Amino acid sequence: MRLDVITIFPEYLDPLRHALLGKAIEQGRLTVGVHDLRDWAPGVHQSVDDSPYGGGPGMVMKPEVWGPALDDVAAGRSGHELASAEPHRDAARHDELNGVAPQAYPGEDADLPLLIVPTPAGRPFTQSDARAWSAEDHIVFACGRYEGIDQRVIDDAAGRYRVREVSIGDYVLIGGEVAALVIAEAVVRLIPGVLGNRRSHEEDSFSDGLLEGPCYTKPRSWRGLDVPEVLFSGDHARVDRWHRERSLERTWRRRPELLDAAELTAADRDFLAGLAEAAEAEPAGAGDDAAGAVTGRAVHCDLQLLIPPVEWPAIAEAMPGTLAAARVAGAQVWAAETDFTCEPDNMLVTEYAQREGHPPIAEVLHRVTVTGTTELELREVTKAVVAALPKGAYWYGSSYEGGVDPEAGDAGSAACAWQGDD
Ligand code: ADE
Repeated sequence: MRLDVITIFPEYLDPLRHALLGKAIEQGRLTVGVHDLRDWAPGVHQSVDDSPYGGGPGMVMKPEVWGPALDDVAAGRSGHELASAEPHRDAARHDELNGVAPQAYPGEDADLPLLIVPTPAGRPFTQSDARAWSAEDHIVFACGRYEGIDQRVIDDAAGRYRVREVSIGDYVLIGGEVAALVIAEAVVRLIPGVLGNRRSHEEDSFSDGLLEGPCYTKPRSWRGLDVPEVLFSGDHARVDRWHRERSLERTWRRRPELLDAAELTAADRDFLAGLAEAAEAEPAGAGDDAAGAVTGRAVHCDLQLLIPPVEWPAIAEAMPGTLAAARVAGAQVWAAETDFTCEPDNMLVTEYAQREGHPPIAEVLHRVTVTGTTELELREVTKAVVAALPKGAYWYGSSYEGGVDPEAGDAGSAACAWQGDD
């Protein structure tokens, strides 16, 4: 592939020589030409812009400069070629991308080079564009600055290019250079042979229409955070299903609109229905991942706890922070004291009496419920909650999928009311 970039800031494109793109240059899979637009600007001042007809703020880039620049670059008449910044030692591996070919709109000549004009007013650039464009022979980027390029430049270029005006997102950059870098990287990494391991881009976010789930490496435990147990199970089917569910879940929380177009199995649909049900049961705000801060599904932990009541407020106050550090986000904590008369044979009371040699004196049985959002296995959730309790506290309980709202039921009220709930 040949990439040409026309810009008034050629040095901005220097990153093209580094890392993956530099390696592709070195492998001979990519040639990059970066051209200073001012080389085509006549006069002493080499001005490339002028005030807009009809008034308004800013400046518009001139057609008499852009026109000849695009003529020359289409014809391969100009430019400095970039060399890779550093030699890369690893040899290319061969892999293939099937089924992609240069794409032409109806009436377009597929042999023409592709002209990409980055602009916030363009069509959104997507992974599927990246995949299609990775099969192109010649891509030219026209990087505008100021208010944009005179529209006639784009209209006129359609005679010798296939033109695509594209945006990399709903925000405004100062110019098209950074967008060109973004698009170039997304495209070049998909050129066969550039990325060593084909699976790594087959499993990318968006490649199956879903966001990629979390990934982990050694060490198994780091700063008190454990890699999910399932990844050590050696059960490939279970591990694959776990990856699929994390990917579905992340997409559901962060980009639910993508699910409409994704290919989903019956098992996927069941899983998503379970997430939706759990979210309905969840207290408002928990599991809200709109800002990208919270990931995972809703869970809750139910415990019986034998502690002096004076200790509870400090435990409750510290618990959300302790749990957040253990990756249980948005934790909400409730406790209700329960009278021993409700449970004359309570196993915690019995255990206490056996170990301490007398029945509890200051200690009172509490029913504790903790809700939160996490990617941890349920067992790990219980461990995280228990780690937030005083050392040696007598407890008993487990964690469950889904959220609950204890205040909506009886848990916080009369002493014995929660009995029989489970
Ligand atoms: N130029 C300025 N803003 C841009 C954007 N969001 N995408 C592409 N090109 C741009």
